[in-house]
Amino acid sequence: MNTAATDNLAGPRAAAARYDAARVRADFPILATRVHGRPLTYLDSAASAQRPLAVLRAVEQYETRTHANVHRGVHALSQAATAAYEGARERARRFINARSVREVIYVRGTTEAINLVAQSWARPRLGIGDEILISALEHHANIVPWQMVCEQTGCTLKVAPIDRRGEVIQEEFLKLLSRRTRLVALAHVSNALGTVLPIQQMIAAAHAHGACVLIDGAQAVPHLRVDVQALGADFYAFSGHKLYGPTGIGVLYGREELLDAMPPWQGGGDMILSVSFEKTTYNELPFKFEAGTPNISGSVGLAAAMDYLEGLGIEAVAAHEQALLQRATAELERLPDLTLVGTAPHKAAVLSFTMKDVHPHDLGTILDAEGVAIRTGHHCAMPVMTFFGLPATARASFACYNTFEDIERLLAALRRARAVFA
Ligand code: ALA
Repeated sequence: MNTAATDNLAGPRAAAARYDAARVRADFPILATRVHGRPLTYLDSAASAQRPLAVLRAVEQYETRTHANVHRGVHALSQAATAAYEGARERARRFINARSVREVIYVRGTTEAINLVAQSWARPRLGIGDEILISALEHHANIVPWQMVCEQTGCTLKVAPIDRRGEVIQEEFLKLLSRRTRLVALAHVSNALGTVLPIQQMIAAAHAHGACVLIDGAQAVPHLRVDVQALGADFYAFSGHKLYGPTGIGVLYGREELLDAMPPWQGGGDMILSVSFEKTTYNELPFKFEAGTPNISGSVGLAAAMDYLEGLGIEAVAAHEQALLQRATAELERLPDLTLVGTAPHKAAVLSFTMKDVHPHDLGTILDAEGVAIRTGHHCAMPVMTFFGLPATARASFACYNTFEDIERLLAALRRARAVFA
């Protein structure tokens, strides 16, 4: 093995060993909560991550000292709020390495971002004979908006299948690409299974057929460094609340020339330059897509969350989460009657599973009584459940604050559940 390869192996392991998860955990006040009289073991960060004190304080500071409406006032507070809001946009730009803040549109979250692209990019352009290509492991937010566009325009939805490990079958994906493919919309990381898609090569293949590409990055940005220029995505969407930030704020990245050519999605204040009953002139990017008073404190909290995560080091967090995932996978595989769902070799911090003869909701209830919070259900990915022939799964997901002790607690709670349902 050459030195570079050895370093590559040693790097993540060494980073994971140096990572002090107990110290990180102390940054999150809610994790000290007791649930049903037991310490909280929070394993539901894929649904919504908790916020560190740094984010809570940034929001409090904004709310108690800076709040006013943005882009509208000459008074000091309005200018300070505008500076905070636009400063946070620049922070988000650096986080994903967009070329310009004109490419960073604030939205409520990933769902709104995808709907914006569906209605403003796809709907005016697509028609009968055109195709939108997604994969079989998408979240409903990356399925339903495209079905709506198909109903509105007559275009067709195509779905690239997955295999039993939960990976998109690349040959099938390539076969489905053609000159009719106008848009490819893919998850970067599957929320239900944790599979990391090889999106760089999938984006390149889509572009080779002249298709535009949207990536749903909701489950990726907390776990992987995302560089939108390196990826080459045309649109990239993510939510603040999965990234240790507030709910109700997210980002749609779009290439400037595409956003420039798109009509506004919603009309109202702030997205205009001038309005008369005869003619309205729209504002420039990014404001053209931000009608109405935005979530200003949310943007401040999101920027603080990005500072926090980059302060820990995204690579260090990722290495720690991989160590947790490997340990949890190995331990769960040893438990009787437990089946892992989604076994792709390249996964982010998600572990979906079922226990024989126990409905996942019952399993979740028993675990909750032990203070262990997991998600149970179809995870807004019903086609994935249908593929595996399951009504639902139990899902544990890991974040920067989880420890190996959390895994021990999960295992103990699963053993208890097995005993209860024996
Ligand atoms: N999309 C979120 C999840 O996967 C809610 O749980």
